[in-house]
Amino acid sequence: MPHLLCQSCGKTRTPNTLQWRCTCGGLFDLHFEAELCVDALPHRPPTLWRYREAIPIEDDAHIVTLDEGFTPLTPVTIAGKSLLVKQDHLFPSGSYKDRGATVLISQAKALGVHHMVEDSSGNAGAAVAAYAARAEIACDIYVPDSTSAAKLAQIQSYGATLYKISGSREDTAYAVQDAARKHFYASHVWNPFFFHGTKTYAYEIWEQRHFNAPDTLIIPTGNGTLLIGAYIGFTDLLKQNLITHLPKLIAVQSAHCAPLMPTWTDEPSATIAEGIAIAEPARAAQIVQCIDKTGGDILTVDDDETRNAQKIMAEMGFYIEPTSATAIAAFVKYPSQRDEIVVAPLTGHGLKSLGK
Ligand SMILES: Cc1ncc(COP(=O)(O)O)c(C=O)c1O
Ligand SMILES: [Zn+2]
Repeated sequence: MPHLLCQSCGKTRTPNTLQWRCTCGGLFDLHFEAELCVDALPHRPPTLWRYREAIPIEDDAHIVTLDEGFTPLTPVTIAGKSLLVKQDHLFPSGSYKDRGATVLISQAKALGVHHMVEDSSGNAGAAVAAYAARAEIACDIYVPDSTSAAKLAQIQSYGATLYKISGSREDTAYAVQDAARKHFYASHVWNPFFFHGTKTYAYEIWEQRHFNAPDTLIIPTGNGTLLIGAYIGFTDLLKQNLITHLPKLIAVQSAHCAPLMPTWTDEPSATIAEGIAIAEPARAAQIVQCIDKTGGDILTVDDDETRNAQKIMAEMGFYIEPTSATAIAAFVKYPSQRDEIVVAPLTGHGLKSLGK
């Protein structure tokens, strides 16, 4: 049976709860036997719900969807090296966060939620607001007041109430936790259902590579929602003998805010990579574990390298936001081997960061 397991005290509980963390304050993980129906896949519509048996929503009637997913995996050449880019900037709300939001808001609907709150550097807020609108659930989104104007406009256009919080990303997190006393906290960081949506990133790459795992994934990482999701997805595939190895996970952080680096002692400074400027990621230990278990690494890139990568992609016809370009900047300096299959996501659309 699917169950929540607390990372701190080991207590289990039913997933059908409105609680966003354990009574001890710990983070929940969701334990769930994902099933992959390989033979049926070619006959299913091109959305992430093609992996229906691997997504922990019991009743189809609760699924909240915009027909998202199964984004193109496109070969490019950068700095003389081959790379596959997964075009997750083409999701309905313009970022990969829709992978998590479609599953998390489906679970909220299953729980009968009428009003939810969420905090974000912008993209998760836009994704949650979009799916809340689709589900006709009232929604309040808390963001740092430095968030890109385009993301703020997008969140409001979905009908969500926007709260702009001054100070750091962490100040925004504290503000929403206060609001979470009254309303369902649809947190992309705390609620493990979100990760059982982002894990479809792994399934899609596997299927698009004719049921093979790549060697290496380069992933922009702040709170780790794509990195942990990718780890869960490829681990599911390995457990079922559908792949032979886990890909190496390379986390990319901004040189201006790199708390996952063991050597990081600095104060964070402002960066154009706003999506990964997370000074205190709640799941930091879990992110580092996922990287270590795959023999991966952490790379940092600065704003100049990021801008350069954004330009490289635009000149090839891909318009992405700076946070997304950090993965490309990391690939530019990544010493890939001759036949190494490397995948990087385009996580956010360029129109979200006009003027940045
Ligand atoms: C475009 C984009 N890419 C990557 C990330 C990183 O996601 P996470 O903080 O979950 O690691 C974000 C987060 O907001 C984002 O907006
Ligand atoms: Zn606990």
